[in-house]
Amino acid sequence: MSIGLFDSGLGGLSVAREIRRIDPTVDIHYLADRSRATYGPRPLHEVRSFAQEITGHLLASGADMIVIACNAASTAALHDLRSTYPDVPFVGMEPAIKPAALHTSTGTVGVLTTAATFQGELFASVVSRFASGVKVETAICEGWVELVEAGEIDGPRAEEIVARHVLPLTEGGADTLVLGCTHYPFLAPLIRAVAGSEVSIVDPGPAVARQAIRIAAGLGLSPGLGSTRFEVT
Ligand code: DGL
Repeated sequence: MSIGLFDSGLGGLSVAREIRRIDPTVDIHYLADRSRATYGPRPLHEVRSFAQEITGHLLASGADMIVIACNAASTAALHDLRSTYPDVPFVGMEPAIKPAALHTSTGTVGVLTTAATFQGELFASVVSRFASGVKVETAICEGWVELVEAGEIDGPRAEEIVARHVLPLTEGGADTLVLGCTHYPFLAPLIRAVAGSEVSIVDPGPAVARQAIRIAAGLGLSPGLGSTRFEVT
């Protein structure tokens, strides 16, 4: 059993690590499309063609299912990929606005995300389906993916870049922050330091990993060897 995962870079590792935590036997093939990162500022049609190309590669390399460990690529391509490969199970990311809307006590939820994810139809549809009666404030967190790609996940400069996007949300009353990009869990300690301990941070990674493992188990394939293969463009 082999699961193919991809992201524009290192962010999807926040999902891969959860999959590995749940299932030590599954084989993981992770592709980081770092030569074309970041996806956030790109038009959706471009991200869609990258996702198609990468999926073709992961399947040709033996993946039995695909986890799109990237919100931007899920927004741009999940629908299309399912029609291109009707027999392949796909698991994608969507902003975790539903649990956040259920959890907030101030009635204001903050979503931290990228331009590509915010632009997509999926974002608007999740807000209209799950956030009625709740105020949803969004921050397009320019510079965050670059921090994670550079491994700069602490220090005064990173804290300043994180604060720039978090403070307007918390000062506007958000008590629950949704991580709408798979790179952001690596910045969670800084987000927490800036936002304060009373603010909740919602990372959809663990739920997506559980869903992936449920689907993998349902395929009835023999277990993998617990190998992890990383590729970087
Ligand atoms: N980690 C990605 C996401 O979840 C991609 C971010 C980017 O490359 O801008 O959206």
